[in-house]
Amino acid sequence: MTTSPLAELSAHVAALLARIDAATTLHDLLAEEPFIIGKRSILSTLQKSLGALAPEDRKAAGALLQEARRGVDEAFMTRREGLERENRAAALEADRLDLGDVVVSQVSVPVAVGHPGIVSATQRELEDVFVAMGFTVSDGPEVESDWYNFEALNIPPAHPARGMWDTFYVDLGEPETVVLRTHTSPTQIHLMEQAVAAASLPIHSVMPGRCYRRDTPDARHLAAFHQIEGLVVDRGITFADLAGVIETFTHAYFGSDISSRLRPAFFPFTEPSAEFEITCTICRGEGCRTCSLTGWIELGGCGMLDPAVLDAVGIDGEEWSGFAFGFGIDRCAQMRHQIADMRALIDNDVRFLRQFS
Ligand code: FA5
Repeated sequence: MTTSPLAELSAHVAALLARIDAATTLHDLLAEEPFIIGKRSILSTLQKSLGALAPEDRKAAGALLQEARRGVDEAFMTRREGLERENRAAALEADRLDLGDVVVSQVSVPVAVGHPGIVSATQRELEDVFVAMGFTVSDGPEVESDWYNFEALNIPPAHPARGMWDTFYVDLGEPETVVLRTHTSPTQIHLMEQAVAAASLPIHSVMPGRCYRRDTPDARHLAAFHQIEGLVVDRGITFADLAGVIETFTHAYFGSDISSRLRPAFFPFTEPSAEFEITCTICRGEGCRTCSLTGWIELGGCGMLDPAVLDAVGIDGEEWSGFAFGFGIDRCAQMRHQIADMRALIDNDVRFLRQFS
């Protein structure tokens, strides 16, 4: 019998809470942040290890882990606010002048402390939604070979579909062989290769990360943006499973009043393929500048895995089938917070950023 990776969860949570309590200065607490709530925390490691669980156990384990993460996050933020308050009080006290009966007081300007940016916070929320649906979270490189970004995804050199992604090339080795990834889809290939090598199929995973395209920034586009890729490889997967995941995600993240629709599209690595759109949250479907007067905003693409892709990574398409999807994280943030122009996300105007603290 295998032991659940969450067997020691409450002990880990207790240890993290003890570490939060043990930090007696703001400096100490912030130094511990990566190990308590960041990527190097045991809870992040546990999240990755959920992939080892049977799919039927993963959903409950994911929900349990999210609850633990929320508790630790909350304790961390409460402690941080307490220590910040103490620092302010100590600074005021240190500045107090002793003039006998005359009381002089000065209000010190609080030190501005940063907080996760809108895109990072959105990425975290999206990961939470998918983890609660039974997905694991994986990472992939931002600098890719032409093979991972294009060829393994059924886009050979000089294929007209390459025009769909205006690419930045990295000046390394043979010209045009190393790219800044134009989408998170190459991470699908890494994941499938790893699962084949470790004989660990099935896969149910999401892969968030930064992508780059020579797109001119406008209300819905940036040259460096973020996507979250989803990949399921299992036995007997159908298009209905894909549509169900997208619908569940839309309602979980945007709320039950936002509709989604799938429209036929073309991607070389999926067949059939679809584009996934939601009601524009800026104009609620009336039509505005952000949605180019259509009332709908495209969030991403999706489809059933093309047999040529399964072949490229050595997965038997007779036994396994699957689907993939890729959404814009910045686009999700934009729709969720009703930001008319995506360029506001990179302007670094504190008056804008403060609204999301
Ligand atoms: C893709 O990138 C495909 N890899 C998606 C996919 C994955 C299809 C798996 C099938 C299976 P597309 O180029 O349409 O597709 O981009 C997907 C989403 O990324 C867009 O809908 C949008 O939300 C976001 N996106 C694309 N380009 C930009 C950009 N320049 N700035 C901000 N978001 C962008």
